Amino acid sequence: MTATQSTAVSSTTGPNRILVIDDEQIVLAGLRETLARENYDVVTADNSFAALSELQKQSFAVIISDHQMPGVTGLEFLSQAKGIQPFATRILITAVLSLDTVIDAINKGEIYRFIVKPWLREELLATVKNAVQRYELINRNAALRAEAVDMNEKLQELNKSLEQQMARVAEQNQRLERLNQALAENLLHSVQMGLHILQTFHPALGNQARRVHEVCKAMADTLNLPAEKRQALEMSAWLHDIGLVGFRRDLIRRWEENPQILPEDEQTLLQSHPILGQDLVRFVHHLEEVGTIIRAHHERFDGTGFPDKLKGEEIPWLGRLLAVAAGFGVARTIDSRPAATTSATAGAPTPVMVRLVVLQPDARTVSAVGDFNGWDPARTSLQQVSNGVWSVTLPLTPGRYEYMFVVDGQRWVSDPAAIEQSDDGFGARNAVLEVLPPGAPL
Ligand SMILES: [Fe+2]
Repeated sequence: MTATQSTAVSSTTGPNRILVIDDEQIVLAGLRETLARENYDVVTADNSFAALSELQKQSFAVIISDHQMPGVTGLEFLSQAKGIQPFATRILITAVLSLDTVIDAINKGEIYRFIVKPWLREELLATVKNAVQRYELINRNAALRAEAVDMNEKLQELNKSLEQQMARVAEQNQRLERLNQALAENLLHSVQMGLHILQTFHPALGNQARRVHEVCKAMADTLNLPAEKRQALEMSAWLHDIGLVGFRRDLIRRWEENPQILPEDEQTLLQSHPILGQDLVRFVHHLEEVGTIIRAHHERFDGTGFPDKLKGEEIPWLGRLLAVAAGFGVARTIDSRPAATTSATAGAPTPVMVRLVVLQPDARTVSAVGDFNGWDPARTSLQQVSNGVWSVTLPLTPGRYEYMFVVDGQRWVSDPAAIEQSDDGFGARNAVLEVLPPGAPL
């Protein structure tokens, strides 16, 4: 074996680098000269050890090997080279080789081409050029494949991250939903607490609030109000008189009986209750609109109301609805105050004033019949207090009463606003009235 020799003839980069191995120095020099002139970076080796050493040090686009070498054949060397640099294009130079061997080597992927000695220069250069292009193509494919794999991995990571983020968002949404639900429950509890305070302070006001709420609910159904507006109106109905809490009860009573006889300063004081109500509900977040509606519940369309003397459409729409409902509710208040005109005997139950109201726009006469007057239509007549609204106030001792209205002396109708109805045994439904003792909790 000749001495180890390897020479780099130029410093061009990897894709143009060619390793040539041949034990004949003259052939080696010829190949180096020919390829270097074409600007290839040629590295030569005159034995397989030197060539393998070069393969360990740097990458080559093409490996050209002589077949007839001492110790190792070109095919054997190229097979080893394939293990070290599989992308490099391998070319075998041979003078004598059976066609079957060459075809077999090509088919098994050991070599790309073979060159027969003596070769034509153009043929050699064309083969080397194709070999370099093949190397570049394989390398580019490998780079693209690696890039695709890398992109896929990143995509998978992104997908995973996206899934985790979506799971986090879903979890946060659930938490938010729970919080919203808790907030809604707290809001309802706050309103119920306000109603409870009102009812404890003055049961008649609490009762009235419930009736006004029923009317508002019916209005919301009829007008098909959106959920938010419906909630604001219903809450306003429950709390519309909360501003009266803290006023002297006798003052409220006198105001309800006949507001005109109150001194101006007391009237002014009582007329501030919508403003006080608005202030009281302000402590609960989300009740700002409710406060505005409550403030407007005594305004009148003609501007004669209070506290702001708003006119027409200056009054908020829901405030107008509440004002109508509150007016209706007041008209049929079952009052827990003692009857001022009735002198109660010692030990006897104290009567309370009860006002019955019914809407009968086409009626000529309306009377009330029930347990309280022996079901006699002649004994309790209602007066028309406004267009189609009929009313009567009567003293009743605490207890449970069933009653009906008689329209035009012949048509019996129940009270649609009664909280309870009872079957009379003849196919009709009597309204039921529960009169509580003054000051009794409801
Ligand atoms: Fe009021």
